[in-house]
Formats: sequence, C-alpha cells, structure tokens
Amino acid sequence: MTNNIVEIHSHILPGIDDGAKDVETSLKMIERLKNQGCDTIVLTPHYYSDSISLDDFLTRRDIAFQKLAEALPEGSPRLIPAAEVYISKYLFTNENLSRLCIGSSNYVLIEHPFSSTFSEASYDRLMNLYCEYKIRPILAHIERYRALMEDESRLDAFIEMGCLAQVNISSFADSPRSVRKKLFKYLESGRIHLVGSDCHNIDSRPPSFEEGFAEIRKKSGEEAIKILQSNARLLVK
Ligand SMILES: [Fe+2]
Repeated sequence: MTNNIVEIHSHILPGIDDGAKDVETSLKMIERLKNQGCDTIVLTPHYYSDSISLDDFLTRRDIAFQKLAEALPEGSPRLIPAAEVYISKYLFTNENLSRLCIGSSNYVLIEHPFSSTFSEASYDRLMNLYCEYKIRPILAHIERYRALMEDESRLDAFIEMGCLAQVNISSFADSPRSVRKKLFKYLESGRIHLVGSDCHNIDSRPPSFEEGFAEIRKKSGEEAIKILQSNARLLVK
C-alpha cells in the first residue's frame, strides 16, 4: 500500500456532474480511497465555463459539499473543494476565479476539448489566465490529447510557461502499449507532475491507485511515486 496519497482529481461530490450520483456513492468512493492510504481528496467537479455561470456552479458546489460534509464519518480524509475547469472564452468574463483554485494554491485543474491541438491560441489563453488572474493551470489527463502525446516539444512549451501536467493513474496500467510507453518516458523525464484517479463512480471509473502505482513502482521505481506524491502534497498544504 502507498501511504499518504493525495487525490487531486475526483468527481466525488454528489449530484453535481457525471460523477457520484448520490451521497451514498460519494461515501463509498471516499472509503475506497481511504483504504488505499489516501488522507486528502481534492474534489474537482466539472465546471463547464461555456454553459453555466461561475456563481451558479459555486452555489451548486457549496450545496453538494454541505450535503456530503454532513454525512461524512469521523476519521475520513480531508476534503478540499475545487473544480475541473473546461477552458473557454467565457471563463474570462469572470472577475475572480480564486474559488476554483486547489486549496490556497494558485493552481486550477484545466480540461481541454478532446480535439484540442494545443495550438498557439490555447497557449495564449492559458498565458492570459496567469497574466490576468495569476492562475497556474494543471493540464488534466494529458494522455487524452494526441497533440501532447505525439509532440513532446508542444508539451514542453506549456510546461515552460508554468503549467503542470496531470495523468490519470489508471492510464499507466490500462492504456494502449504505445501510450504507456510514452507516459513512462514523460514520467522519467520529469514531464508528469501529478497523478489523480479522475474517479466518477465505484465500478467503471473507480477511485483506484493501486494498479497504476504498481506499474510505476515496477518500471520507474518507488522514488517516482514519492516525487508525484510530494508534488500533490505541496498543492494542498
Ligand atoms: Fe475529470
């Protein structure tokens, strides 16, 4: 078992997105994380900035959080409300984005469209996020984007700008061989900063770190896990 896991990407808040459908499911997901050695969970419900206002999203998140907090057994992992923010031009109509950040950090988990080519326009948009809001993006599940997986110089440009790269832990165990090969190359060259489960439920997309960590341990060694975990710990300090 890996101790002191920090989950930084989860859809555990009940009834707010395509994640946990009710409090009972949320509690099962939390318990499963706790049993794997997780002591801190960042809650990252989808915030589709092109289809709901920030105020409405935050109100819905507060209600879901309250519901969950009331049902949470003693000794549960610490919960930190944040978001997985779908990037769009509408995000920039808001004055203050600080409640989307992870804890007291200035990092926000950012999701791109599946088809994103991480073009110059995407680069400029993320750069604006820093210039206008002092927010640093965490690129969610980089393994989903061909543009980043097939062109490491493109990923490097975003990292040099100040972005962090997150990978879903299960991808180290169950993605196609060519993707896994690239992920380990990226991990060993320091291009992957964070892992999370991106759990949505308890069966098809469960909160499960063990298989992914086992693969990393086998191929890259325990030290690689330690670095990932200490990066995550810094975010939630
Ligand atoms: Fe997600």
